[in-house]
Amino acid sequence: MNPAERSTPVTAPSLAALEERARAGQDPPPPDTLIACDSLVRIFRTEGVEVQALQGLDLHVDEGEMTALVGASGSGKSTLLGILSGLDVPTAGTARVAGHDLLALGARERLAYRRRTVGFVWQQTGSNLLPYLTARENVMLPMRYTRVPRRQRPARAEELLATLGIAHCRDRRPGELSGGEQQRVAIAVAGANEPRVLLADEPTGELDTASGAEVFAALRRANEHLGVTVLIVTHDAQVSDQVSRTVRIRDGRTSTETLRHDATRAEEFAVLDRAGRLQLPREYVERYALSRRVRLTAETDHVGVRRAQDDQSATALPPGGERPVASDGADGRDSGSSSTSDGSSGTSSSNTGEAR
Ligand SMILES: Nc1ncnc2c1ncn2[C@@H]1O[C@H](COP(=O)(O)OP(=O)(O)OP(=O)(O)O)[C@@H](O)[C@H]1O
Ligand SMILES: [Mg+2]
Repeated sequence: MNPAERSTPVTAPSLAALEERARAGQDPPPPDTLIACDSLVRIFRTEGVEVQALQGLDLHVDEGEMTALVGASGSGKSTLLGILSGLDVPTAGTARVAGHDLLALGARERLAYRRRTVGFVWQQTGSNLLPYLTARENVMLPMRYTRVPRRQRPARAEELLATLGIAHCRDRRPGELSGGEQQRVAIAVAGANEPRVLLADEPTGELDTASGAEVFAALRRANEHLGVTVLIVTHDAQVSDQVSRTVRIRDGRTSTETLRHDATRAEEFAVLDRAGRLQLPREYVERYALSRRVRLTAETDHVGVRRAQDDQSATALPPGGERPVASDGADGRDSGSSSTSDGSSGTSSSNTGEAR
């Protein structure tokens, strides 16, 4: 059977129309979505050199989730966290956290956002705490900026330290704490004002395995007991293997997501953005010799992706028209194709090639 008989070409809105629709907010994220980034772009310009750190990144995180963010060095993870924390402003796209539009915040709102809505834990243990304050004083400090009544602060700080398993550290200064203890105090500081989101950029990066496990356990406790949504950037497989969802960033975009059903079952998916774009795994691109143009077909239960030149002979010519010339130079000997169901495809590789 020739491909034209069994498949109908997909007639989709143009990419420009889809982007316009996403911008116009005609397709709002579901109500549970706490973090919604769409087509996020961040370009850094230094001394005439332009770096596109985020190149149209999409990320949606539901309230209460604990998500790991992984990716090669330079892929844009810290840039994303900088934006979500309110420290940096994206060049384009949309970023909303707990109803705040991060591209539109004024200076005063941005400060309030950083004090109340997000908490942050950095990789460098020394950057998270003031060295001349005790653990308890460090945790009480952010409460001053949100006008928590003075007499409530000690009890709230101690409760937080106890929840995170470091009550015994409360009267010690950072110099008297191990790296892991410092990071757990930092999580308490980040949680001091009951933020909706806790962002952690490689919080276990400077720690040994045992201390890293304790810090991860504290993040999990913050997620479960305080109800805060947690997003952790990590290179640590010990962390990413234990969360139910791991998002991989590649070249400034979300490329794949791994959903873990339990300790032994995990499934990796390609990510379909709200504009309808997805990245094909590089191994598929190579195996089927896909390049530049591919033909999409709507099959009964899935979408087919096929080398553009493979079914040219079966494609009806427009009346009086000429057959289009394949411009990618492939010879068409293989019947290269890949397919995807419901917009996602199980993948086994994090290296992806892009199909738009
Ligand atoms: N302030 C800046 N000025 C110019 N370029 C920047 C700036 N911050 C980040 N970049 C560039 O943006 C890209 C993404 O950097 P980013 O720090 O987000 O990567 P990362 O994924 O966090 O990497 P790592 O795993 O090494 O921490 C890199 O090419 C980096 O050099
Ligand atoms: Mg980083």
